[in-house]
Amino acid sequence: MESYNKTYKLLHWGMALLVIAALALVEFRGWLPSKDMKHEAVFLHIQAGLGIFCLIWVRIIWRATHDVPPIVPAPPGFQQKAAGWAHALLYLLMAALPFLGILALQSKGKDVAFLGWTLPALLDEDKWLSYSLSFRNVHETLGNLLMAAIAFHVLAALVHHFHVRDNTLRRMLPFPGSGRLETFNTSTKGNRQ
Ligand code: HEM
Repeated sequence: MESYNKTYKLLHWGMALLVIAALALVEFRGWLPSKDMKHEAVFLHIQAGLGIFCLIWVRIIWRATHDVPPIVPAPPGFQQKAAGWAHALLYLLMAALPFLGILALQSKGKDVAFLGWTLPALLDEDKWLSYSLSFRNVHETLGNLLMAAIAFHVLAALVHHFHVRDNTLRRMLPFPGSGRLETFNTSTKGNRQ
């Protein structure tokens, strides 16, 4: 069975962990006992988000220059189209969210640093922009959209794996031989592959 290569699997699962970390750090920061810890959580949120911002371009370039292993048996055309749009939305959100995060902070006159390096200011503190458009609100709303898109993405992968029983998920699993369902293919009368 053809699967994604190691580089792409590493990008996929590494970025999945960074996105989950970025989301968990801001969503659950209210549970932390002290103000300092809450600040630390937002700082780590920013570092994870900027890590995603660096990697998403590598991923987009990789995706644009490599063939994707086929799904067997091939899903209907409309499903393939829907998956293409859903993936494009995920890429778009992973690029837009960190960018909006940078603008949200810089429009309030705050510096943004990644691993100790202060990013150049894309925006001076701009009172007019801050009043007319809150980058923070757009960032938060798109963050919620990303959570919904991720839930849909995971659900679709699980439906393909456990219900349709094709190789959609197995192509991306990190270790060869994981996802034991692969040994049975109900669509070919339970023959071993
Ligand atoms: C893919 C990466 C990112 C995701 C998924 C994401 C998601 C979110 C979400 C959902 C919230 C709202 C949390 C809430 O109040 O309910 C939020 C808040 C925030 N994000 Fe991000 N974000 C990302 C990257 C970034 C980056 C790169 C920066 C800064 C450069 C940033 C700065 C902020 C700030 C300052 C807040 C407000 C925190 C507070 O209220 O104290 N984010 N983010």
